[in-house]
Amino acid sequence: MNERNVDPANWREICADYHQVTSYDRATLEEIWEERSYDRDNRPETYLSYPDALARVPLGQPEPPPAAPDLWAVLRNRRSKRDYLDQPLSLAELNLLLWATQGITGDLGDYQLRTAPSSGALYPIETFLFVQRVEGLEPGLYHLDVKAWELEALRHEPLEQISTTACEVALDQEHARRAGVNFLWTAVMERCRRKYYERAWRYVWWDSGHIAENLHLAATALGLGSVSMGAWYDRQAHEVLGIDGVEHFTTLMASVGKIGGEDWRADRRIEEG
Ligand SMILES: Cc1cc2nc3c(=O)[nH]c(=O)nc-3n(C[C@H](O)[C@H](O)[C@H](O)COP(=O)(O)O)c2cc1C
Repeated sequence: MNERNVDPANWREICADYHQVTSYDRATLEEIWEERSYDRDNRPETYLSYPDALARVPLGQPEPPPAAPDLWAVLRNRRSKRDYLDQPLSLAELNLLLWATQGITGDLGDYQLRTAPSSGALYPIETFLFVQRVEGLEPGLYHLDVKAWELEALRHEPLEQISTTACEVALDQEHARRAGVNFLWTAVMERCRRKYYERAWRYVWWDSGHIAENLHLAATALGLGSVSMGAWYDRQAHEVLGIDGVEHFTTLMASVGKIGGEDWRADRRIEEG
């Protein structure tokens, strides 16, 4: 792990520095950018894949259910939900969730556009999954190959083991253990930094937020429960994923699972009780 030697006691100053150094200032921006350039033809690779994956699961064309609620009902009904049933998601449901977050919906030749917006259309965010209860998928750690639209199995593990890892990574939040699947989003920094320099350290978080909201809206439309998780152990997550935590690091988590009913008030007790 390639961590910098900083004193955590100075977090206020360090965070203020980060905010300041990633701010745009009319007085200086033009001058700074005169010395910078971005060559789209020589940009970093947009698509990550694991050629040595244990198995590849083609996802195919996602098929929305025939009777989906309209957007306004989905917006009205979205609520964070954590009280998951011990029932699997179908692979078709997972496919729709993945498509809502990262699906390619436009092709401009040398780059593609997706369901969720991305700063500069650079798409620095990768999707890893703790697959726990999904029909047709062995439990384990997976990565989404966006271009091939396949899941890559990086590790198969018994349900209890992968669920425990997910729960531990997510600061011991029990709903992560009981989820059908936990999403863990990461940023490949150079994709965004090559163009946006310091500002990229803001964009990757915003990109992740856009992706996560698409997940929640799709989950709501499918009658599934979902919740974002900003609380996770970064270092443990990086170790689990085998990424360095500096050039490639985690940006957000979310759980999804089957739920019993619509009573979100009862569900909130899990968080608060
Ligand atoms: C960035 C972010 C991080 C969050 N982190 C967590 C979390 O770690 N655990 C959790 O149970 N809920 C988490 N939530 C969900 C919030 O608690 C929830 O959105 C909030 O209580 C409002 O409720 P609602 O989403 O049902 O409208 C997070 C939400 C966001 C947007």
